Amino acid sequence: APNISVTNVKAHLSQLQSIATANGGNRAHGRPGYLASVNYVKGQLDAAGYTTVVQSFTYNGATGYNLIADWPGGDPNDVLMLGSHLDSVTAGPGINDNGSGSSAILEVALEVARQQLTTTKHLRFGWWGAEELGLRGSAYYVNNLGATERSKIKAYLNFDMVGSPNPGYFIYDGDNSDGVGSGPGPAGSAALERVLQDYFVSIGVPTEGTDFDGRSDYGPFINAGIPAGGTFTGAEGRKTAAQASKWGGASGTAFDRCYHSSCDTTANIDDTALDRNADAIAYAVWTLATGTTTPPG
Ligand code: PHE
Ligand code: ZN
Ligand code: ZN
Ligand code: ZN
Repeated sequence: APNISVTNVKAHLSQLQSIATANGGNRAHGRPGYLASVNYVKGQLDAAGYTTVVQSFTYNGATGYNLIADWPGGDPNDVLMLGSHLDSVTAGPGINDNGSGSSAILEVALEVARQQLTTTKHLRFGWWGAEELGLRGSAYYVNNLGATERSKIKAYLNFDMVGSPNPGYFIYDGDNSDGVGSGPGPAGSAALERVLQDYFVSIGVPTEGTDFDGRSDYGPFINAGIPAGGTFTGAEGRKTAAQASKWGGASGTAFDRCYHSSCDTTANIDDTALDRNADAIAYAVWTLATGTTTPPG
């Protein structure tokens, strides 16, 4: 799998920051900064050769948008989908939450195009609207797929907050191996967890499981029985002393002290965490969608 350029990922974050700054400081549902964010990502994907669709929905009296991008090729009955929410809260520009996941999957998508990747599975990317108002865009997408189209999505990978400034390295616990919390994901989720674990093992970074607690856009997918996975570097939760000793950073303080705040700017990103997660995403795509299982160098 390729090494994803964190410089390129950060360039997308700078664009999203500029969009927020030019639009009242946020990229929230129903605000002009949200549609400008969709148009930025769509422009990049269209130029790279993706087939894109903007899906509109209404929530709270405002129009919301999901952006869906398909990479041509692969088995149409065996779809691997990756997704990230592109909306922010109204309080700030939403650079870690969730410019980070949005920009990381965008750069992976662009690398797929640069390599003109031939996939065995069909590869699809989604940028969700109105996550911050209750997973509205992802729920709209899943619930408006016909049963046949829904059944073709064999796996969903979610990336929400992957550059937290005091990062943890969490992978959704598909098999509930820690035996606590919300239980396992749909059958097949454990295999997705393992692929992401394999990547972090290969770079020598310890990980922990995090529960499918319903707080991000995997929710509608697992509710539909679609296997899910993904990574997360922490939100308002505090890093424990044990976590700080294995990951570094500050114990007793939040993974992201600017969570849902005006200070969630381009300064609110840990470049190493962002880089590792972008590379993990690429590893998962190359491993799962091409059948290539060569470990990263
Ligand atoms: N979805 C939450 C938000 O956008 C953040 C979060 C992501 C929390 C993943 C837990 C797990 O605010
Ligand atoms: Zn949020
Ligand atoms: Zn989020
Ligand atoms: Zn597990």
